[in-house]
Amino acid sequence: MNKIDRAGFGSKLGAILASAGSAVGLGNIWRFPYETGNYGGAAFILIYLGCVFALGLPIMISEFIIGRRSHANTAGAFQKLAPGTQWKWVGRLGVITAFLILSFYSVVAGWTLEYVFEAAGNGFAGRTPEQFVESFDLFSTNPWRPLIWLVLFLLATHYIIAKGVEKGIERSSKVMMPVLFVLILVLVGCSVSLPGASAGIEFLLKPDFSKVDSNVFLAALGQAFFSLSLGMGCLCTYASYFKKDTPLIKTAVSVGLIDTFIAILAGFIIFPAAFSVGIQPDAGPSLIFITLPNVFHRAFEGMPFLAYIFSLLFYLLLAVAALTSTISMHEVATAYIHEEFKVVRKRAAAIVTGGCIIIGVLCSLSLGVGRNIALFGLPLFDLLDFVTAKFLMPLGGALMAVFVGWYLDKRIVWEELTNDGALKAQSYKLIIFILKFIAPAAIFIIFINELNVI
Ligand code: PHE
Repeated sequence: MNKIDRAGFGSKLGAILASAGSAVGLGNIWRFPYETGNYGGAAFILIYLGCVFALGLPIMISEFIIGRRSHANTAGAFQKLAPGTQWKWVGRLGVITAFLILSFYSVVAGWTLEYVFEAAGNGFAGRTPEQFVESFDLFSTNPWRPLIWLVLFLLATHYIIAKGVEKGIERSSKVMMPVLFVLILVLVGCSVSLPGASAGIEFLLKPDFSKVDSNVFLAALGQAFFSLSLGMGCLCTYASYFKKDTPLIKTAVSVGLIDTFIAILAGFIIFPAAFSVGIQPDAGPSLIFITLPNVFHRAFEGMPFLAYIFSLLFYLLLAVAALTSTISMHEVATAYIHEEFKVVRKRAAAIVTGGCIIIGVLCSLSLGVGRNIALFGLPLFDLLDFVTAKFLMPLGGALMAVFVGWYLDKRIVWEELTNDGALKAQSYKLIIFILKFIAPAAIFIIFINELNVI
């Protein structure tokens, strides 16, 4: 495929919104607020910001450089920039990682649809806290219901991907990102105006430095990595669709700011509501599927219409945030099959969707009827989550930093950062320094630490 007929994003704004769409996802809503609460409120936010700006953005920029310079899918990109070397394996690793994350992430994304459906039918009204636990357990272990939502979610992702880069990914991001933003603002507005909400706001914003230790740094770094979608070629693939005049550093800063801002706003939805009813928020699926419907329900007691709307909008928000992320993972694998195996784009997308449905179904069943089947001691769902988030993503990120910091000709790096001299890149030296030394070392430390925790 030559450069001229390759698809691309039509505008700089499209490039920012699509990349921010990849970054903003379930990770912002179910993990960031919890980690903030757990690790010292504003103190964690400050450290997180440090991780995003000092490490996350340089790695994001390295992905952008690799993608835009090569105008190819992640695996093809390394082949073009380092022909005849083994670097292509970093790209292939990214494709595998994206495919695996998509498979289990879509299971949870599917659950958000079930909750949109239940919220729309006012199914949460009148439930006791125990019933929220029970109904989630019944649903997630049901042999067929989650599968239907999983397949629907993957088909929605497929539909956007099959429409192409500009008409599918870019156009849908331009609609979904503003929708997501409005939904968040409405929900924050409702949550902070609840009686007793100020305790939640204070909890979130009061820096408690006594909770800061090395674990906080590791948690912040791991969260920054997952939340910014780093290390598996998503942003590299998107950058291969950037135009020549898209400013890479500025785009990365915008994506980092949007992602962090949305994560903080998610905290302003969850903590004020939870504190107003005296419930301590937890993390992960149980936060969004058990604790929060209960919290929303109690917080708006006596205001059934508000409780209804709040829950419905919240699950819509989750579904939209998940969709903008799943399309970015899907694209990594679709672009790879399309370009490397010369398969028509729609067929490439169908292969990815089909493959993800198979693995996704197995993941989903591994939480229910297949609970007793363990691989390496874990159900498939947990295994994929563990291997990708704790192992493959940091590994991919470190290798990309090393590739740009050490291997790639610095003239190429300079040309990409300055758009062939048209822009200034005062942070050039700093970025190279971080990519060469700081990022690989920091990731190595998270790596060792996380592997010890098994
Ligand atoms: N960044 C997304 C989130 O916060 C998850 C994701 C990871 C998306 C990796 C794409 C690639 O939920």
